[in-house]
Amino acid sequence: MSDSSLGQNNKPLRVAVLVSGSGSNLQVLIDTMQSGELPIEIVGVISNREDAYALTRAKEASIPVALLSHVANGKRMGIKTFETHANAQLQDWQPDLIVLAGFMRVLSSDFIQYSIAPMINLHPSLLPVYKGLDTHQRVIQAGERHHGCSVHVVTAELDAGTVLTQALLEVDPKETADGLKAQVQKLEHQLLPWTILLIAKGVLTLNTDSSKNDDSYLPALPLTLFIDQ
Ligand code: GRF
Repeated sequence: MSDSSLGQNNKPLRVAVLVSGSGSNLQVLIDTMQSGELPIEIVGVISNREDAYALTRAKEASIPVALLSHVANGKRMGIKTFETHANAQLQDWQPDLIVLAGFMRVLSSDFIQYSIAPMINLHPSLLPVYKGLDTHQRVIQAGERHHGCSVHVVTAELDAGTVLTQALLEVDPKETADGLKAQVQKLEHQLLPWTILLIAKGVLTLNTDSSKNDDSYLPALPLTLFIDQ
């Protein structure tokens, strides 16, 4: 796309999804695409793990997949090699939007800056707090009253790009980290398609020009999804 007019026409938004694990969020995108609730076309799925169940989900939906395993024949694939292959694949698929849904490799600043399309990430915390891993455990240990998930623009700094949307819940002090994870995942399954819908409808307009570092085109963010659980 040549400018910041993502999702402004009537064509489905072309979405590429990067995954590393179960792919429950990918499944929600597949389901909402197939039911017509979400005006997207998932043009391909890239996994950095051979054992990611997300690959099975994509194949069952006849979505092209690319496996760029971080370990092949006992050798670790460096991030630069991964990115070279991922870039070629994305060039082929020509997505309007790249979604990191449970993708667990840290991408280089060059890959992010020169990305063919804007990139968003789903993170299991109310950013800017609890960046990084083990968010549910850390939230419980800190005795937080609120927790949730965020969708943010991917930038070179980990989990630090503009937060587009959030969904939140009240933490039951007796809750375990696993229980909290399950609760947050339920929120994620609503937040991610909702956010992509806002992008596809042009409510959220992402900057596709990486030379601009200007958030003024965005509405007051984050937009918050309140869900009755
Ligand atoms: C999600 O909880 C996401 O927040 C985290 O990884 C998990 C991915 O789950 N980054 P799935 O693979 O979509 O089931």
